[in-house]
Amino acid sequence: MSKSISGFSKLSKSEKIDWIVSTYLSNSDIAKNTIKQYFNTDKKLQQLHDEFIENTISNYYLPLGVAPNFLINGITYAVPMAIEESSVVAAASKAAKFWMDRGGFKTTVISTTKIGQVHFMYEGAVDDLRLFFNSIKTKLIEDSKPITKNMEMRGGGIIDIELRDKTENIEGYYQLHATFETLDAMGANFINSCLEQFAKTFKAEAEDTLDSPVEVIMSILSNYVPDCLVRAEVSCEIEALSEGDIDPEAFAKRFVQAVSIAEVEPHRAVTHNKGIMNGIDAVVLATGNDFRAIEAGVHAYASKDGKYKSLTHAKVEDGIFSFWMEVPLALGTVGGLTSLHPLVKVSLDILGKPKATELMQIVAVAGLAQNFAALRSLTTTGIQEGHMKMHLMNILNQFDANSREKEAIVNHFKTHTVTHSAVVEAINKLRA
Ligand code: HMG
Repeated sequence: MSKSISGFSKLSKSEKIDWIVSTYLSNSDIAKNTIKQYFNTDKKLQQLHDEFIENTISNYYLPLGVAPNFLINGITYAVPMAIEESSVVAAASKAAKFWMDRGGFKTTVISTTKIGQVHFMYEGAVDDLRLFFNSIKTKLIEDSKPITKNMEMRGGGIIDIELRDKTENIEGYYQLHATFETLDAMGANFINSCLEQFAKTFKAEAEDTLDSPVEVIMSILSNYVPDCLVRAEVSCEIEALSEGDIDPEAFAKRFVQAVSIAEVEPHRAVTHNKGIMNGIDAVVLATGNDFRAIEAGVHAYASKDGKYKSLTHAKVEDGIFSFWMEVPLALGTVGGLTSLHPLVKVSLDILGKPKATELMQIVAVAGLAQNFAALRSLTTTGIQEGHMKMHLMNILNQFDANSREKEAIVNHFKTHTVTHSAVVEAINKLRA
């Protein structure tokens, strides 16, 4: 049977399922049931989800958790997190609780500028192009007024447009490099619409003015936003780091060393930053933002000095332990999924309907907290103890443990180390 198809997009949802199941899945009844099991009984809600993307066949659930006790600039938040990985929400919660008793997190929005570019080719004299750009710049902005009018009324809009000469990189390559303030919107549609208008005006006017043609290659926002930056930090006296049998001096020293390693060693930096993204992505997803854009921008920022490095930094100075991060986050709290996905609305309500700048601060804190929790485990007990404790339920579910078995095994592992094989052994023993 052919495994390719023309016109798949035109099939109904149930025809799509039938085709996928009969073409690719041998256990077709079970697969079909699994796909349908995830349909929502509320038809309107299901249709809303079907229409978020294309060729929808079902819903793919992620758990939505909440990490309470985040004290940020004196306000206490419960932070919604959508993520599949066990121990992330527990780690964030534990770090939040720890810092709540030590003054909480402090944050500052450093900048909120977003970027878009029209990439074009031009083989003529650069001085002619410069003169032409300077003469046309006001018109580029004027012609975009129908797009920018509402944003300007709210206080945002186009900040500037520059002509950038990139001919050192590619012969004949230039950019219109534009900066924008998009306030509470992530701004992708707004920026792309402005850019396409710039391109249209630029090309049309160039035809009448320049001797050589302008060939627009593409007009698109950049997800690299080093000037949409937020800082999150915590600090306390070294003695205040004391908890349980942790020696605060030794802990602070090891912690700072762990961060230093991630500052110089890219293999470690990638994992270190992955831990930060555990927190960032989970809140970004829960609040309906684009985690791919955030991921791409954050990792580019981690390489801004020409080498991939830790996003967080730590020091001990004059008896004070400080831990901080600056991270670029272009987020929105209006538009996109924020007003469409019912759980996104609930998540934003839990956070008190934040403005985009407030959400930037919350998301940065979630990343910093996550990194603090991971590094505390790594430099003390090792990561597996806490992670496996949280992962226990996943292993029990793999073995279809019933509630009586779960209770007995969870009790057993209160005093034993969780490893996959130890859990399997305990289940087998119980069942025998
Ligand atoms: P613990 O000390 O065993 O926890 O920590 P506890 O039972 O004493 O509870 C203390 C608090 O932790 C609780 O306070 C909660 O806030 C939280 P309470 O609610 O009781 O007032 N907590 C929980 N919250 C929700 N559900 C739970 C739960 N248990 C504790 N079941 C913990 C256990 C896992 C928190 C700790 O060991 C930890 O923080 N581990 C780090 C885990 C981690 O970083 N996970 C991320 C996945 S690993 C990874 O991908 C990243 C990594 O590679 C990054 C890197 O290398 O840098 C590690």
